[in-house]
Amino acid sequence: MKQMLQELRDASLKAILECEDAELLESLRVKYLGKKGELTAILRQMGGLSAEERPRMGQLANKLRADIEDAIEDRNKIISALKMERRLISESVDVTLPGKKQSLGHKHPMYNVLDQIKDIFIGMGFEIVDGPEVELADYNFTKLNIDEAHPSREWTDTFYFTEDSSILLRTQTSPMQIHAMETKELPIRMIAPGRVYRKDEVDATHSPMFHQIEGMVIDKGITMADLKATLNLVVEKIYGEGTVTRFRPHHFPFTEPSCELDIQCHKCGGVGCPTCKGEGWIEVLGAGMVHPKVLAGCGIDPDVYSGWAFGMGLERLALGEYKINDLRLIFENDKRFLEQF
Ligand code: DAH
Repeated sequence: MKQMLQELRDASLKAILECEDAELLESLRVKYLGKKGELTAILRQMGGLSAEERPRMGQLANKLRADIEDAIEDRNKIISALKMERRLISESVDVTLPGKKQSLGHKHPMYNVLDQIKDIFIGMGFEIVDGPEVELADYNFTKLNIDEAHPSREWTDTFYFTEDSSILLRTQTSPMQIHAMETKELPIRMIAPGRVYRKDEVDATHSPMFHQIEGMVIDKGITMADLKATLNLVVEKIYGEGTVTRFRPHHFPFTEPSCELDIQCHKCGGVGCPTCKGEGWIEVLGAGMVHPKVLAGCGIDPDVYSGWAFGMGLERLALGEYKINDLRLIFENDKRFLEQF
C-alpha cells in the first residue's frame, strides 16, 4: 500500500505542477481526492491491513491528501498570476505609437453664404422663420393664388404624398408667406430660408432638392419703392457696392406687380461672358408686391396694409460666390471638395 501511495504522490504532484488551466486543475482535484478518486480507492483497501500497519498507512494517506491540497492551492495561485500576466501583455497599450488624428468638420460653404444673408436681413430688423417642408397644397399653391390648372401642380413636377394631391413636399418657400401672415402680428418683416423639392433630374444646374430664401414685409404704406430700395441694398452687401441692378417685369400669381431682379455681370461688366452666358446680366431673384387676394385670404385688409416679397435660390448664390461650376458638388459631401472652403 505504501508503494501505491508513493506512486499516487509522484503522479499527482507531477500532473498538478504541469497544469496550466484552472478548470483542469479542479478536475485533477476530483480525480485524486474526490469521493470516487484515486486516494479513496486506495483507502478502501485499508481493511486488509494489520492493526499496526493501519494507523501508519492512515497517517501517510492523510499526509498525501494534505500535500496534494497544498500543491493544488499553490498551483492555483500561479495559474491566476499567469493569467493576469497574459492579460496585461495582450491589453497593453504602446504609448509610443502616434495618435489617431481627429478630423474636425466646419460649416458647409452654402451655409456660409446663408449666414451672410441672414446677417444682412437681421441688421435691417427682419426675423428668421422656419416652416414645414411637408406642406399642404393649400399653402403651397391655393392660398398663393396659384390656380388649379397651373403647370407647377402637375404630378410630373411635384412630389405628392396623397392621391388627392393635398399633401406634398413644398416646391417653394413661398408658403411661408402664408404661415407668417396667418400667425404673426403686423407689421411683418421676415425671411424664411429652407429646402424645397421639385421633380428634376440631377445635372450640373438641377437637383430635386435645393434651397430658397423667402422674404416678406407687410406694413401700412409699403410700396414698390421699398422693395427696390431694400433689395438694391441687399445686392450691394452681397455683390459689392456699386453693383448695377435691373428690375424686369415678370409674372407670379401671388404678387402684383411682379418682377425679376438681375445684376449686371460682375465678371464682364455687362458685355457678355461665360459667367452670364453672354447675356451681360445674371438673374438673382423673383419679387413683387403681395397680391391683394393673398393678403385678404390671410385675413389682412389690402386697403389698409400692403407688402412686398421675394424668393431667391441659395445654391446659385453660393456657386457664384465660390466660383463653383457644378451644383452636384454642393450636395455630394465629398470632404476633399468641402475642405477647400
Ligand atoms: N416662389 C417663386 C419661385 O419659386 C419665387 C418668388 C417670386 C418668390 C416672387 C416670391 C415672389 O416671394 O414675390 O419661383
